[in-house]
Order: sequence, then structure tokens, then C-alpha cells
Amino acid sequence: MHAELTAKIMDRSAVIGIVGLGYVGLPLMLRFSEEGFKVLGFDIDESKVEALNAGQSYIEHIPGGKIAEARQTGFAATTDFSRAAEVDVLILCVPTPLDKHREPDLSFVLNTTDALVPYLRTGQLLSLESTTFPGTTEEELRPRVESRGFTVGEDFFLVFSPEREDPGNPDFTTRTIPKVCGGVTKTCLDVGVTLYSTVIDKVVPVSSTQAAELTKLLENIHRAVNIGLVNEMKIVADKMGIDIHEVIRAAATKPFGFVPYYPGPGLGGHCIPIDPFYLSWKAREYGVNTRFIELAGEINSSMPDYVIGKVTAALNAQQKAINGSKVLVLGIAYKRNVDDMRESPSVAIMEKLTELGASVAYSDPHVPVFPKLRDHAHFDLASEALTPQTIAGYDCLLLATDHDDFDYAALKQHARLIVDTRGRYLEPADNIVKS
Ligand SMILES: NC(=O)c1ccc[n+]([C@@H]2O[C@H](COP(=O)([O-])OP(=O)(O)OC[C@H]3O[C@@H](n4cnc5c(N)ncnc54)[C@H](O)[C@@H]3O)[C@@H](O)[C@H]2O)c1
Repeated sequence: MHAELTAKIMDRSAVIGIVGLGYVGLPLMLRFSEEGFKVLGFDIDESKVEALNAGQSYIEHIPGGKIAEARQTGFAATTDFSRAAEVDVLILCVPTPLDKHREPDLSFVLNTTDALVPYLRTGQLLSLESTTFPGTTEEELRPRVESRGFTVGEDFFLVFSPEREDPGNPDFTTRTIPKVCGGVTKTCLDVGVTLYSTVIDKVVPVSSTQAAELTKLLENIHRAVNIGLVNEMKIVADKMGIDIHEVIRAAATKPFGFVPYYPGPGLGGHCIPIDPFYLSWKAREYGVNTRFIELAGEINSSMPDYVIGKVTAALNAQQKAINGSKVLVLGIAYKRNVDDMRESPSVAIMEKLTELGASVAYSDPHVPVFPKLRDHAHFDLASEALTPQTIAGYDCLLLATDHDDFDYAALKQHARLIVDTRGRYLEPADNIVKS
């Protein structure tokens, strides 16, 4: 049965189903479309499905024109999961957040799988791409698939292949980022590698779905821990009157054995603040405490308070209090040059400033209107235009995300005070405080 599916993949007659058409699912859909596959997209969000079927995009760095092109080569989106029977391959790209106890929330993955199971048929490949703890594919997905009477590895194929993306980074595309894949059986892996090799330049097979799951977590834990380390170094350096950014730049000239990571106002995005805790949770089942992860989490999540302390001290030096001050937060997306607000530390900082009595506004060229966010206060705000007058009208500009579109010279020239959390201003100036 795998020979039949392999042949359909090779001659591009296989129909690809992508479930969850977000930051991960949409670029993948485009990539399969570019290679001549017919793609059927599944999502529970009616408004996204409507927009896509009208050839429009809802993600800033994905042009609408590309969606329209994919529509012409057979792409369609639907909320009707019974259509899963029409596809040969199903790729799950649904969210894997943490719940309010900061434990893995697999409900999106499990609900989606449960919705698909009645329509699965023999000869299909199911690939999970959502970041998750080792064992999810084997312990959660496999029994659900087998509940249909299928034999995984013989008449149904199951793999885990984690997504890697660096949104907003033009140096890497879906095609050029190597992709790891692990199968439940050797045959599953072979089919998975065949599939991804049609759209990705380099596919990296690993021996199991668990190894593939842990690979993704290791990558993100590596980042979280190293960012925690530089955030701690920043506090030490600041106390010693040393600029941590100067030190990192100097250390990065070492041609081996050092990788630069940069401090900031806290972790953001859908991955780094969340994924490490998927492993911490699973490790407890094995009686292991993941101390590096916990420590990095503690340091990184204390950064918004550190920034507030810096703003307080900087205003105090000008005989002002946070209470009653006008503060403009520059950059509310979680990182430079993107529009993604998920887990953005800017939001926690805006909430804290507001609680302390500041009058808070923001400016972000990528986020024209403050969006509705889960688990956060809503700010009924739109992005402020930056003119010399508006810049000078604030007691403090808090540089939280250093988008390239900001005019840093103009900000420095007109601001009464800038608190810089990103090391954008290396030269000391009377109106700039590093944070
Ligand atoms: N964004 C990234 O850069 C990135 C990178 C690597 C891995 N990941 C991982 O990929 C997964 C998806 O992340 P994302 O950033 O694409 O999320 P997203 O929120 O952008 O997209 C998820 C999509 O799934 C849809 N959805 C939710 N529940 C669904 C369901 N039950 N059935 C079908 N569709 C459903 C949502 O409407 C949304 O369109 C997560 O596990 C994430 O950790 C994300």
C-alpha cells in the first residue's frame, strides 16, 4: 500500500490536506502548491477559510497574490472535516499552547485528530507538525488511528515532522530549511521522507517519532536557556557599568565555540516561551526535573519587571513618577519586523505600566490596531504616528521591539527619555537609558 502512495507522491497526483492554516500551515500549503500538488486546507475558523478562498492572506509576510496563485492551481480551504477522505496526506499544524497552569494543552491536536478519525481511510499518511512532547505521536495519535482498525506501517502511515520557521527572516524559506522526520515504523518514515523531499531541499530522517519530537524541543530549549543566560549577564553587566551589547558583539568575533544571543524585555512568540515546558511536564513522568528550563523560564519571565524598574528609575532621575507619566511603547510585536503579537512581552509591560498609573500608548508599523489577545487585558489603542511633536510629547519612549522601520536618529533627537531594551543605541546619551 505504501508503494501506491509513494507513486502518487512522486507523480504529484497525491492530494495534500493541511489542517490548521496559520503561520506554519499556510507557507507549507504554498510550498506544496508551488510543486504542483493539489492542496485542500482545513481550519475551524470560518473567517480564515473565507479569506483564503477569496485569494486573500491574513499574515503580513505572506502576500495575498500567492494565495490567489495557489487558488488557481487547485488550492481550496474548508471547515468540513469529512473531506479528509478526499486527501492522500494529512499534515496537522494546529496550536500547542500551555494551559493556565502552564502545562501542555494538547486539546487542539486531539480535537482535530478526533474530528478527522471518522474520515480517515487506508493508504493515507498522517504527519503531525505541531511542537509537542516526546511520545505524543505514539501514545496519542497512534491509538486514535488504530481505533479505525488500521495497522500503522502497513495500511496507514504516521510520522512526526516538526516545523522550523523564522518568520520575517528573508534568508531562509520553507524549501531551504532542512526538515527532520521520524516515523512510527520504517515504512512510515520512508513515506514521510518521500513526501517532504518533494518540497524541502534536505530531509533529515531520525529513528523514531519520539526522537523527532525531542529534536524540536531541544532546539527551542537551547534558545530559551541561552537567552536566559544573556538576560542574567545583562543584569550583572549593568550593575558593573558595562554595556552587555558591546560585550556580546566582541565575544561574537570568536570564530568558534561562541554563539551570540541577545537580551531583551522578555521572551515572546508562539514557541520559545512555551515549548520548553512541554518537556518539563513530560520529564516529571520519568522522575526528572528540568532545572535549566525552569531557571531560564524564571529569569526570562522576570524581564518585564526588570524593564519596569529601569523605567521607574529613569523617570525618577527626572523627578517624575510612573504614575501620571505618558509612556509610548515602541514595538509591540514580539520580535523585529513581524506583526506577530503572541506572548509578546510588550503586552505584559503595557499592563504593568497601566497598573502603576501611566498613560500608555504604542507605536508599531506592523500592528496598526491593538488586537484582541487571549489571557491579556485589551487596549483600545491604535499605533501612534511618530512625528517630532508626538515623540517630544511623551515622558518616556520604551523601545521594546526594534523594528527596522523606526527612525532611530529622529527618536533620539526628539525624545525626552528613551529606555532601550534592545541595545539599539550603543553610544551613551543623556536621554537614553539601557535596560
Ligand atoms: N509560528 C511559528 O513560527 C512556529 C514555528 C515552528 C513550530 N510551530 C508550531 O506549529 C504549530 C502551529 O503553530 P502556528 O504558529 O501555525 O499557529 P497558528 O495559530 O498561526 O495557526 C493554527 C491554525 O490552526 C487553526 N485551528 C485551531 N484549532 C483547530 C482545529 N481543531 N482544527 C483545525 N484547525 C484548527 C487555527 O484557526 C489557526 O488557523 C504549533 O505547535 C507551534 O508550536 C510554530
